[in-house]
Amino acid sequence: MKRRDFVSLLSAAAGSSILWGCRKEQLGIQEAGIDMMSARGGGTIATRYPLKFPTTVTPSALTLESKLATSDLGGGMISNVWAYNGQFPGPLIRANKGDNVNIQLKNSLPEETITHWHGMIVDHHNDGQPMSSIIPGFTYNYSFTINQRAALNFYHPHPHMLTGKQVYLGQSGGFIINDAEEAALNLPSGPYELPLIIRDATLDGNNNLTYKPSSGGMIGKIPLVNGTRSPYLNVERSVYRFRVLNGANARIFGLVLSNNATMRLIGNDGGLLAASVDLNRIDMANGERTDILIDFRNYPNGTTIMLRDLRSGWDLLEFRINSITISGELPVTSSVITALTNPVTTRQFSFDGMSKINGREYDMERIDWSVPFGVTEKWIFKTSGNAPHPVHVHGASFQVVSRTGGRNQLFPWESGWKDTVLLEDRETVEVLVRFDAFKGVYLMHCHKLEHEDMGMMANFEVI
Ligand code: C2O
Ligand code: CU
Ligand code: CU
Repeated sequence: MKRRDFVSLLSAAAGSSILWGCRKEQLGIQEAGIDMMSARGGGTIATRYPLKFPTTVTPSALTLESKLATSDLGGGMISNVWAYNGQFPGPLIRANKGDNVNIQLKNSLPEETITHWHGMIVDHHNDGQPMSSIIPGFTYNYSFTINQRAALNFYHPHPHMLTGKQVYLGQSGGFIINDAEEAALNLPSGPYELPLIIRDATLDGNNNLTYKPSSGGMIGKIPLVNGTRSPYLNVERSVYRFRVLNGANARIFGLVLSNNATMRLIGNDGGLLAASVDLNRIDMANGERTDILIDFRNYPNGTTIMLRDLRSGWDLLEFRINSITISGELPVTSSVITALTNPVTTRQFSFDGMSKINGREYDMERIDWSVPFGVTEKWIFKTSGNAPHPVHVHGASFQVVSRTGGRNQLFPWESGWKDTVLLEDRETVEVLVRFDAFKGVYLMHCHKLEHEDMGMMANFEVI
């Protein structure tokens, strides 16, 4: 039976109260793809829904239409969304290093938009910056060749002052680049390599996403993973590779497994780490990505393990071990990361309040500094309040070299190549960066999307 058929059967039966009074074992519901579980905190019964996955597409001749749509958040809870090609999250784009990208963005929203490929190193025209926004009914053509290492990138709207709302209402997706170095590692693939876009939301009485940001940004009341409320995922006794993106507007997640088992971190924003590392907690700020292997081989069939957010105490995703046979391997990975060294220039950036960098709000027409092409610089990020500020840079990946104040340390997920780094209260973070791909105007901004929309963003030019 297909899930859709089952769900209509379920809603038909629900009214009769027969189904809700039964135990799942009696009905054998689990195989059909839905069941009732005790929620955290005990007492109440929460239903969990199968984790949704976006369709996978190639970018060689792709049309992405930003449009109004409806999406099933789970169990027939239909929500109005703004979504790429009507899908929430948007289609998962996958391509190889060296491939050509030809994407036409069509704006069928009631307001201006533009799409940015967060993490991808492309020229100004293809970067999807606010000044490239298109009005309703218009299209924008992107055309470039992928020339960067394997990684999970993040596409989302970037119109001036509207980014938070448009991302929140459902417009975001993953863009996976593969390359030969990664392929040689024999990582879990196909059904064993899965995207997890984690975010939060607040729903109104009709299950629609409501956008009501406060001074701390848009902090939602419930988690959604891949656009699914209270999701579960059946997994085999095997090793899975999860491509994780914090797609929330403002919420930071501290990921743990409920049994405190380790997760093997193999990559982050800019691709594979120099060496994989086993961790039992991984923090992710808005826009950050991690590449994680989870080993389910040693758990008996029927075991459940919850992916949790330690910061909110939320249950994010329940893994249900659902096989007897054991397969797969847990590889140790390594990659060559050439360290940036000897910066020639040092720049300081203070993230002030909710809307300013170095005392100034974003002005689309103003270029705040110039960076010579191909030269390593040290950029120092600090905050004078209203942190956290996840700092994001367009046009290049950077390497994080130190954090002083606040947490006073660097974390394993901050090694290698990054494009977003979390600045918590009282912290100073130093990064080394070199723009050696394109000259042109790029952006640096806070990736708490409400701060970005309020003006905590700046143009700079690589010359
Ligand atoms: Cu993810 Cu300038 O953004
Ligand atoms: Cu970006
Ligand atoms: Cu901020």
